[in-house]
Amino acid sequence: MDIKEFSQRRADLAEHMGPNSIAILSASTIKTRNHDADFHFRQNSDFYYLSGFSEPEAVLVIIPGREHGESVLFCRERNPAKEIWDGYIMGPDRAIDLLGVDDAFPISDIDEIIPGMIEGTDKVFYSMGLDAQFDTHVMEWINNIRSKVRSGAHPPGEFVALEHPLHELRLFKSDAEVAVMQKAAKISAEAHVRAMKRSKVGLNEYHLEAEIIKTFMDAGARFPAYSTIVGSGSNACILHYIENNKTLEEGDLVLIDAGCELECYASDITRTFPVSGKFTTEQAAIYQIVLDAQTAAIKETKPGNHWNHPHEAAVRVIAKGLLDLGLLVGDLEKIIEDESYKKFYMHRTGHWLGLDVHDVGEYKVGGAWRELEKGMVLTVEPGIYIAAECKEVDEKWRGIGVRIEDDVLVTKTGARVLTRHVPKQINEIETLMAS
Ligand code: GLY
Ligand code: MN
Ligand code: MN
Repeated sequence: MDIKEFSQRRADLAEHMGPNSIAILSASTIKTRNHDADFHFRQNSDFYYLSGFSEPEAVLVIIPGREHGESVLFCRERNPAKEIWDGYIMGPDRAIDLLGVDDAFPISDIDEIIPGMIEGTDKVFYSMGLDAQFDTHVMEWINNIRSKVRSGAHPPGEFVALEHPLHELRLFKSDAEVAVMQKAAKISAEAHVRAMKRSKVGLNEYHLEAEIIKTFMDAGARFPAYSTIVGSGSNACILHYIENNKTLEEGDLVLIDAGCELECYASDITRTFPVSGKFTTEQAAIYQIVLDAQTAAIKETKPGNHWNHPHEAAVRVIAKGLLDLGLLVGDLEKIIEDESYKKFYMHRTGHWLGLDVHDVGEYKVGGAWRELEKGMVLTVEPGIYIAAECKEVDEKWRGIGVRIEDDVLVTKTGARVLTRHVPKQINEIETLMAS
Protein backbone atom coordinates (compact mmCIF):
# COMPACT_ATOMS: atom_id res chain seq x y z
CA MET A 1 0.00 0.00 0.00
CA ASP A 2 1.30 3.46 -0.87
CA ILE A 3 2.68 5.46 2.09
CA LYS A 4 0.34 8.30 1.06
CA GLU A 5 -2.55 6.08 2.22
CA PHE A 6 -1.09 6.02 5.74
CA SER A 7 -0.33 9.78 5.71
CA GLN A 8 -3.93 10.44 4.71
CA ARG A 9 -5.19 8.35 7.64
CA ARG A 10 -3.02 10.31 10.07
CA ALA A 11 -4.30 13.55 8.58
CA ASP A 12 -7.91 12.33 8.87
CA LEU A 13 -7.39 11.43 12.52
CA ALA A 14 -5.68 14.76 13.23
CA GLU A 15 -8.67 16.56 11.76
CA HIS A 16 -11.03 14.62 14.06
CA MET A 17 -8.84 15.39 17.08
CA GLY A 18 -8.67 19.14 16.59
CA PRO A 19 -6.13 21.61 18.00
CA ASN A 20 -4.31 21.37 21.36
CA SER A 21 -4.46 17.60 21.41
CA ILE A 22 -2.13 14.64 21.16
CA ALA A 23 -2.70 10.97 20.27
CA ILE A 24 -0.36 8.30 21.63
CA LEU A 25 -0.26 4.71 20.35
CA SER A 26 2.03 1.87 21.27
CA ALA A 27 3.18 -0.94 18.98
CA SER A 28 2.46 -4.57 19.93
CA THR A 29 4.92 -6.44 22.09
CA ILE A 30 6.62 -9.72 21.29
CA LYS A 31 4.76 -12.59 23.01
CA THR A 32 6.47 -15.68 24.35
CA ARG A 33 5.11 -19.02 23.13
CA ASN A 34 7.28 -21.15 25.36
CA HIS A 35 10.84 -21.02 26.65
CA ASP A 36 13.07 -19.10 24.19
CA ALA A 37 10.43 -19.37 21.45
CA ASP A 38 8.29 -16.37 20.55
CA PHE A 39 5.09 -16.10 18.57
CA HIS A 40 5.62 -14.41 15.22
CA PHE A 41 5.25 -10.67 15.75
CA ARG A 42 1.98 -9.15 14.54
CA GLN A 43 1.59 -5.39 14.74
CA ASN A 44 -1.31 -3.88 16.67
CA SER A 45 -3.94 -3.07 14.03
CA ASP A 46 -4.56 0.53 15.13
CA PHE A 47 -0.82 1.19 15.11
CA TYR A 48 -0.43 -0.43 11.70
CA TYR A 49 -3.41 1.45 10.28
CA LEU A 50 -1.76 4.76 11.06
CA SER A 51 1.88 3.90 10.37
CA GLY A 52 2.30 0.86 8.11
CA PHE A 53 5.14 0.00 10.50
CA SER A 54 5.66 -3.65 11.44
CA GLU A 55 8.24 -3.50 14.24
CA PRO A 56 7.83 -3.82 18.01
CA GLU A 57 9.17 -1.30 20.56
CA ALA A 58 7.65 1.73 18.87
CA VAL A 59 5.35 4.58 19.78
CA LEU A 60 3.42 6.77 17.34
CA VAL A 61 2.40 10.26 18.32
CA ILE A 62 0.08 12.56 16.40
CA ILE A 63 -0.06 16.24 17.29
CA PRO A 64 -2.42 18.22 15.06
CA GLY A 65 -0.86 21.47 13.91
CA ARG A 66 2.63 20.76 15.31
CA GLU A 67 5.11 23.08 13.63
CA HIS A 68 7.73 20.40 12.92
CA GLY A 69 5.15 17.95 11.58
CA GLU A 70 2.08 16.27 12.99
CA SER A 71 3.30 12.67 13.09
CA VAL A 72 6.24 11.47 15.19
CA LEU A 73 7.54 7.93 15.43
CA PHE A 74 9.72 6.60 18.21
CA CYS A 75 11.38 3.35 17.12
CA ARG A 76 14.41 1.11 17.65
CA GLU A 77 17.75 2.41 16.47
CA ARG A 78 19.71 0.46 13.90
CA ASN A 79 22.08 -1.99 15.55
CA PRO A 80 24.30 -4.11 13.26
CA ALA A 81 25.21 -6.56 16.06
CA LYS A 82 21.57 -7.15 16.98
CA GLU A 83 20.48 -7.25 13.33
CA ILE A 84 22.80 -10.24 12.75
CA TRP A 85 20.61 -12.19 15.17
CA ASP A 86 17.13 -10.76 14.74
CA GLY A 87 17.14 -9.16 11.32
CA TYR A 88 16.25 -5.80 9.84
CA ILE A 89 15.61 -2.74 11.98
CA MET A 90 14.33 0.30 10.09
CA GLY A 91 15.67 2.96 12.45
CA PRO A 92 14.41 6.55 12.86
CA ASP A 93 16.24 8.02 9.84
CA ARG A 94 14.87 5.55 7.33
CA ALA A 95 11.42 5.70 8.96
CA ILE A 96 10.95 9.27 7.76
CA ASP A 97 11.58 8.24 4.13
CA LEU A 98 9.98 4.81 4.16
CA LEU A 99 6.89 5.55 6.24
CA GLY A 100 6.40 9.21 5.47
CA VAL A 101 6.20 10.25 9.14
CA ASP A 102 7.26 13.84 9.78
CA ASP A 103 9.75 13.15 12.56
CA ALA A 104 11.38 10.11 14.14
CA PHE A 105 13.45 9.54 17.26
CA PRO A 106 15.08 6.56 18.99
CA ILE A 107 12.65 4.85 21.36
CA SER A 108 15.34 5.05 24.04
CA ASP A 109 14.89 8.85 24.08
CA ILE A 110 11.13 8.82 24.52
CA ASP A 111 11.07 9.65 28.26
CA GLU A 112 13.04 12.84 27.61
CA ILE A 113 11.09 13.95 24.54
CA ILE A 114 7.45 12.98 24.92
CA PRO A 115 6.53 14.92 28.11
CA GLY A 116 7.43 18.09 26.21
CA MET A 117 5.05 17.08 23.43
CA ILE A 118 2.20 16.36 25.84
CA GLU A 119 2.82 19.50 27.88
CA GLY A 120 0.54 22.35 26.81
CA THR A 121 -2.08 20.15 25.15
CA ASP A 122 -5.62 19.97 26.55
CA LYS A 123 -6.60 16.47 25.40
CA VAL A 124 -4.79 13.16 25.23
CA PHE A 125 -6.32 10.66 22.79
CA TYR A 126 -5.33 7.27 24.12
CA SER A 127 -6.73 3.70 24.24
CA MET A 128 -6.54 2.93 27.92
CA GLY A 129 -6.47 -0.59 29.32
CA LEU A 130 -4.97 -2.50 26.38
CA ASP A 131 -1.45 -2.70 27.80
CA ALA A 132 -1.07 -2.15 31.55
CA GLN A 133 2.67 -1.53 31.27
CA PHE A 134 2.24 1.15 28.62
CA ASP A 135 -0.66 2.71 30.59
CA THR A 136 1.80 3.13 33.46
CA HIS A 137 4.32 4.83 31.16
CA VAL A 138 1.73 7.27 29.89
CA MET A 139 0.73 8.15 33.45
CA GLU A 140 4.39 8.65 34.37
CA TRP A 141 4.75 11.15 31.52
CA ILE A 142 1.61 12.97 32.65
CA ASN A 143 2.73 12.95 36.29
CA ASN A 144 6.09 14.30 35.19
CA ILE A 145 4.24 17.35 33.78
CA ARG A 146 1.94 17.59 36.82
CA SER A 147 4.98 17.80 39.09
CA LYS A 148 6.03 20.97 37.28
CA VAL A 149 2.80 23.00 37.46
CA ARG A 150 4.35 25.41 39.97
CA SER A 151 6.96 26.17 37.31
CA GLY A 152 4.15 26.98 34.88
CA ALA A 153 3.70 23.57 33.21
CA HIS A 154 0.23 22.88 31.74
CA PRO A 155 -0.81 19.21 32.08
CA PRO A 156 -3.65 18.03 29.83
CA GLY A 157 -7.05 18.11 31.49
CA GLU A 158 -8.80 15.45 29.46
CA PHE A 159 -8.25 11.85 28.38
CA VAL A 160 -10.29 10.86 25.32
CA ALA A 161 -10.84 7.30 24.07
CA LEU A 162 -8.75 7.19 20.88
CA GLU A 163 -10.65 4.16 19.63
CA HIS A 164 -13.83 6.15 18.97
CA PRO A 165 -12.58 8.35 16.13
CA LEU A 166 -9.95 5.84 15.00
CA HIS A 167 -12.29 2.86 14.71
CA GLU A 168 -14.85 4.98 12.91
CA LEU A 169 -12.17 5.69 10.29
CA ARG A 170 -11.21 2.01 10.10
CA LEU A 171 -14.82 0.96 9.53
CA PHE A 172 -14.93 2.65 6.11
CA LYS A 173 -12.55 1.01 3.67
CA SER A 174 -10.76 3.08 1.02
CA ASP A 175 -10.28 1.86 -2.55
CA ALA A 176 -6.75 0.75 -1.66
CA GLU A 177 -8.02 -1.26 1.30
CA VAL A 178 -10.78 -2.86 -0.78
CA ALA A 179 -8.18 -3.83 -3.40
CA VAL A 180 -6.04 -5.65 -0.78
CA MET A 181 -9.09 -7.28 0.80
CA GLN A 182 -10.28 -8.45 -2.62
CA LYS A 183 -6.87 -10.00 -3.23
CA ALA A 184 -6.90 -11.72 0.18
CA ALA A 185 -10.43 -12.98 -0.49
CA LYS A 186 -9.39 -14.45 -3.83
CA ILE A 187 -6.42 -16.28 -2.30
CA SER A 188 -8.66 -17.72 0.41
CA ALA A 189 -11.25 -18.75 -2.17
CA GLU A 190 -8.57 -20.62 -4.10
CA ALA A 191 -7.47 -22.34 -0.87
CA HIS A 192 -11.03 -23.58 -0.22
CA VAL A 193 -11.34 -24.86 -3.79
CA ARG A 194 -8.09 -26.79 -3.42
CA ALA A 195 -9.15 -28.25 -0.07
CA MET A 196 -12.41 -29.47 -1.65
CA LYS A 197 -10.47 -31.08 -4.46
CA ARG A 198 -8.05 -32.78 -2.07
CA SER A 199 -10.72 -34.12 0.30
CA LYS A 200 -10.81 -37.91 0.56
CA VAL A 201 -11.93 -40.52 3.08
CA GLY A 202 -8.96 -41.56 5.25
CA LEU A 203 -7.13 -38.24 5.20
CA ASN A 204 -6.92 -36.32 8.46
CA GLU A 205 -8.60 -32.96 9.02
CA TYR A 206 -5.13 -31.39 9.28
CA HIS A 207 -4.30 -32.55 5.75
CA LEU A 208 -6.99 -30.18 4.51
CA GLU A 209 -5.55 -27.49 6.79
CA ALA A 210 -2.17 -28.15 5.14
CA GLU A 211 -3.71 -27.59 1.70
CA ILE A 212 -5.24 -24.33 2.89
CA ILE A 213 -2.04 -22.97 4.45
CA LYS A 214 0.09 -24.05 1.48
CA THR A 215 -2.23 -22.23 -0.89
CA PHE A 216 -2.06 -19.07 1.24
CA MET A 217 1.73 -19.11 1.33
CA ASP A 218 2.14 -20.03 -2.35
CA ALA A 219 0.06 -16.95 -3.17
CA GLY A 220 2.12 -14.64 -0.94
CA ALA A 221 -0.08 -14.61 2.16
CA ARG A 222 2.29 -15.83 4.82
CA PHE A 223 -0.21 -16.22 7.66
CA PRO A 224 -3.84 -17.12 8.22
CA ALA A 225 -5.93 -14.31 9.71
CA TYR A 226 -7.05 -16.66 12.52
CA SER A 227 -6.68 -20.31 13.47
CA THR A 228 -8.04 -22.51 10.70
CA ILE A 229 -11.08 -24.62 11.57
CA VAL A 230 -11.41 -28.01 9.85
CA GLY A 231 -14.26 -29.88 11.52
CA SER A 232 -15.53 -33.12 10.03
CA GLY A 233 -18.63 -35.01 11.13
CA SER A 234 -20.01 -33.68 14.41
CA ASN A 235 -16.85 -31.58 14.94
CA ALA A 236 -18.54 -29.13 12.55
CA CYS A 237 -20.97 -28.40 15.41
CA ILE A 238 -18.14 -27.08 17.64
CA LEU A 239 -18.01 -23.43 16.64
CA HIS A 240 -14.37 -22.79 17.55
CA TYR A 241 -13.00 -26.28 16.78
CA ILE A 242 -9.28 -26.02 16.00
CA GLU A 243 -8.04 -29.48 17.03
CA ASN A 244 -8.22 -30.50 13.36
CA ASN A 245 -6.97 -34.01 14.09
CA LYS A 246 -9.74 -36.47 13.23
CA THR A 247 -9.80 -38.85 10.28
CA LEU A 248 -12.23 -37.91 7.50
CA GLU A 249 -14.93 -40.57 7.28
CA GLU A 250 -17.28 -41.75 4.57
CA GLY A 251 -20.61 -39.96 4.75
CA ASP A 252 -19.32 -37.02 6.82
CA LEU A 253 -19.52 -33.36 5.98
CA VAL A 254 -16.46 -31.23 6.63
CA LEU A 255 -16.67 -27.58 7.63
CA ILE A 256 -13.64 -25.42 6.84
CA ASP A 257 -13.45 -21.88 8.22
CA ALA A 258 -10.22 -20.36 6.93
CA GLY A 259 -8.96 -17.05 5.60
CA CYS A 260 -5.56 -15.61 4.88
CA GLU A 261 -4.11 -12.33 6.08
CA LEU A 262 -2.58 -10.09 3.44
CA GLU A 263 -0.78 -6.85 4.35
CA CYS A 264 -2.47 -7.28 7.75
CA TYR A 265 -5.97 -7.43 6.16
CA ALA A 266 -8.13 -10.44 6.95
CA SER A 267 -10.34 -12.61 4.82
CA ASP A 268 -12.79 -15.07 6.37
CA ILE A 269 -14.50 -17.86 4.42
CA THR A 270 -16.44 -20.92 5.51
CA ARG A 271 -17.51 -23.72 3.23
CA THR A 272 -19.08 -27.05 4.18
CA PHE A 273 -18.89 -30.00 1.81
CA PRO A 274 -19.15 -33.80 1.84
CA VAL A 275 -15.84 -35.56 2.47
CA SER A 276 -16.38 -37.83 -0.50
CA GLY A 277 -18.10 -35.31 -2.76
CA LYS A 278 -21.79 -36.22 -2.55
CA PHE A 279 -24.35 -34.82 -0.07
CA THR A 280 -26.81 -37.23 1.60
CA THR A 281 -30.51 -36.28 1.49
CA GLU A 282 -30.44 -34.94 5.06
CA GLN A 283 -27.16 -33.06 4.59
CA ALA A 284 -28.48 -31.48 1.38
CA ALA A 285 -31.71 -30.42 3.12
CA ILE A 286 -29.86 -28.65 5.94
CA TYR A 287 -27.26 -27.22 3.57
CA GLN A 288 -29.91 -25.74 1.28
CA ILE A 289 -31.59 -23.95 4.20
CA VAL A 290 -28.27 -22.38 5.24
CA LEU A 291 -27.52 -21.38 1.65
CA ASP A 292 -31.00 -19.84 1.25
CA ALA A 293 -30.52 -18.01 4.55
CA GLN A 294 -27.17 -16.66 3.36
CA THR A 295 -28.65 -15.57 0.01
CA ALA A 296 -31.46 -13.77 1.84
CA ALA A 297 -28.98 -12.11 4.22
CA ILE A 298 -26.71 -10.93 1.40
CA LYS A 299 -29.77 -9.47 -0.35
CA GLU A 300 -30.42 -7.38 2.77
CA THR A 301 -26.82 -6.16 2.84
CA LYS A 302 -27.17 -2.76 1.20
CA PRO A 303 -27.03 0.94 2.03
CA GLY A 304 -30.03 2.16 3.96
CA ASN A 305 -30.60 -1.16 5.69
CA HIS A 306 -29.29 -1.45 9.22
CA TRP A 307 -26.76 -3.87 10.71
CA ASN A 308 -29.39 -6.33 11.94
CA HIS A 309 -31.38 -6.65 8.69
CA PRO A 310 -29.20 -9.45 7.22
CA HIS A 311 -29.35 -11.35 10.54
CA GLU A 312 -33.13 -11.03 10.73
CA ALA A 313 -33.44 -12.33 7.16
CA ALA A 314 -31.19 -15.31 7.89
CA VAL A 315 -33.02 -16.16 11.11
CA ARG A 316 -36.39 -16.18 9.33
CA VAL A 317 -35.20 -18.54 6.58
CA ILE A 318 -33.50 -20.88 9.06
CA ALA A 319 -36.47 -20.97 11.44
CA LYS A 320 -38.90 -21.65 8.58
CA GLY A 321 -36.61 -24.31 7.09
CA LEU A 322 -36.23 -26.15 10.40
CA LEU A 323 -39.97 -25.91 10.96
CA ASP A 324 -40.68 -27.41 7.51
CA LEU A 325 -38.31 -30.30 8.27
CA GLY A 326 -39.97 -30.90 11.65
CA LEU A 327 -36.79 -30.07 13.57
CA LEU A 328 -38.63 -27.20 15.22
CA VAL A 329 -42.32 -27.26 16.03
CA GLY A 330 -44.87 -24.54 16.59
CA ASP A 331 -45.60 -21.16 15.07
CA LEU A 332 -42.90 -19.46 12.94
CA GLU A 333 -43.39 -15.98 14.45
CA LYS A 334 -43.26 -17.43 17.96
CA ILE A 335 -40.07 -19.41 17.19
CA ILE A 336 -38.43 -16.19 15.99
CA GLU A 337 -39.80 -14.20 18.92
CA ASP A 338 -38.78 -16.63 21.67
CA GLU A 339 -35.51 -17.46 19.87
CA SER A 340 -36.02 -21.21 20.15
CA TYR A 341 -34.15 -21.50 16.80
CA LYS A 342 -31.00 -20.71 18.84
CA LYS A 343 -30.73 -24.40 19.75
CA PHE A 344 -29.55 -24.91 16.15
CA TYR A 345 -28.38 -21.40 15.19
CA MET A 346 -26.72 -19.83 18.21
CA HIS A 347 -24.40 -17.19 16.70
CA ARG A 348 -24.97 -13.99 14.79
CA THR A 349 -24.88 -13.70 11.02
CA GLY A 350 -21.68 -11.68 10.73
CA HIS A 351 -19.15 -9.14 11.93
CA TRP A 352 -17.12 -6.28 10.50
CA LEU A 353 -13.98 -7.38 8.65
CA GLY A 354 -10.73 -5.48 8.08
CA LEU A 355 -7.33 -5.38 9.73
CA ASP A 356 -8.84 -7.60 12.43
CA VAL A 357 -10.96 -10.58 11.51
CA HIS A 358 -13.55 -9.39 14.02
CA ASP A 359 -12.91 -5.83 13.00
CA VAL A 360 -13.53 -2.67 14.95
CA GLY A 361 -16.49 -0.34 14.50
CA GLU A 362 -19.73 0.25 16.35
CA TYR A 363 -22.70 -1.99 15.60
CA LYS A 364 -25.13 0.37 17.28
CA VAL A 365 -25.19 4.15 17.24
CA GLY A 366 -27.25 6.00 19.84
CA GLY A 367 -28.84 2.72 20.90
CA ALA A 368 -30.08 1.85 17.39
CA TRP A 369 -28.60 -0.62 14.88
CA ARG A 370 -26.19 1.21 12.65
CA GLU A 371 -27.06 1.83 9.01
CA LEU A 372 -25.00 0.05 6.38
CA GLU A 373 -22.99 2.42 4.21
CA LYS A 374 -20.72 2.25 1.19
CA GLY A 375 -17.21 1.06 2.07
CA MET A 376 -18.12 -1.15 5.03
CA VAL A 377 -16.99 -4.78 4.80
CA LEU A 378 -18.73 -7.52 6.77
CA THR A 379 -19.10 -11.27 6.79
CA VAL A 380 -22.39 -13.06 6.14
CA GLU A 381 -22.19 -16.46 7.81
CA PRO A 382 -25.36 -18.24 8.86
CA GLY A 383 -25.21 -21.86 10.00
CA ILE A 384 -27.18 -24.77 11.42
CA TYR A 385 -25.60 -27.09 13.98
CA ILE A 386 -27.37 -30.23 15.19
CA ALA A 387 -25.25 -31.69 17.98
CA ALA A 388 -24.53 -35.44 17.94
CA GLU A 389 -26.11 -35.65 21.42
CA CYS A 390 -29.31 -33.87 20.40
CA LYS A 391 -31.71 -36.61 21.44
CA GLU A 392 -34.91 -34.70 20.65
CA VAL A 393 -34.44 -34.96 16.87
CA ASP A 394 -34.49 -38.06 14.70
CA GLU A 395 -31.12 -39.80 14.59
CA LYS A 396 -30.65 -39.11 10.88
CA TRP A 397 -30.18 -35.38 11.59
CA ARG A 398 -27.69 -35.70 14.43
CA GLY A 399 -24.12 -34.49 13.99
CA ILE A 400 -24.83 -32.35 10.93
CA GLY A 401 -23.13 -28.94 11.09
CA VAL A 402 -23.20 -26.45 8.21
CA ARG A 403 -21.93 -22.88 7.93
CA ILE A 404 -21.48 -20.84 4.76
CA GLU A 405 -19.50 -17.63 5.09
CA ASP A 406 -18.62 -14.91 2.61
CA ASP A 407 -17.01 -11.48 2.84
CA VAL A 408 -19.22 -8.71 1.55
CA LEU A 409 -18.45 -5.10 0.63
CA VAL A 410 -21.30 -2.61 0.87
CA THR A 411 -21.34 -0.60 -2.36
CA LYS A 412 -23.22 2.55 -3.36
CA THR A 413 -26.23 0.59 -4.51
CA GLY A 414 -25.93 -2.85 -2.92
CA ALA A 415 -23.17 -5.29 -2.11
CA ARG A 416 -20.25 -7.07 -3.72
CA VAL A 417 -19.25 -10.54 -2.52
CA LEU A 418 -15.45 -10.44 -2.35
CA THR A 419 -15.24 -14.21 -1.82
CA ARG A 420 -17.41 -15.15 -4.78
CA HIS A 421 -14.67 -17.29 -6.39
CA VAL A 422 -15.42 -20.38 -4.33
CA PRO A 423 -18.54 -22.40 -5.19
CA LYS A 424 -21.38 -22.91 -2.75
CA GLN A 425 -24.35 -24.29 -4.71
CA ILE A 426 -24.79 -28.03 -4.04
CA ASN A 427 -24.43 -28.99 -7.70
CA GLU A 428 -21.36 -26.75 -8.13
CA ILE A 429 -19.62 -28.37 -5.15
CA GLU A 430 -20.48 -31.90 -6.30
CA THR A 431 -19.26 -31.13 -9.82
CA LEU A 432 -16.02 -29.57 -8.58
CA MET A 433 -15.28 -32.49 -6.26
CA ALA A 434 -16.02 -35.04 -8.98
CA SER A 435 -13.57 -33.34 -11.36
N1 GLY B 1 -13.43 -17.21 11.58
C1 GLY B 1 -14.00 -16.47 12.59
C2 GLY B 1 -15.36 -16.11 12.29
O1 GLY B 1 -15.93 -16.62 11.33
O2 GLY B 1 -15.94 -15.27 12.91
MN1 MN C 1 -16.47 -14.75 10.42
MN1 MN D 1 -14.97 -17.56 9.71
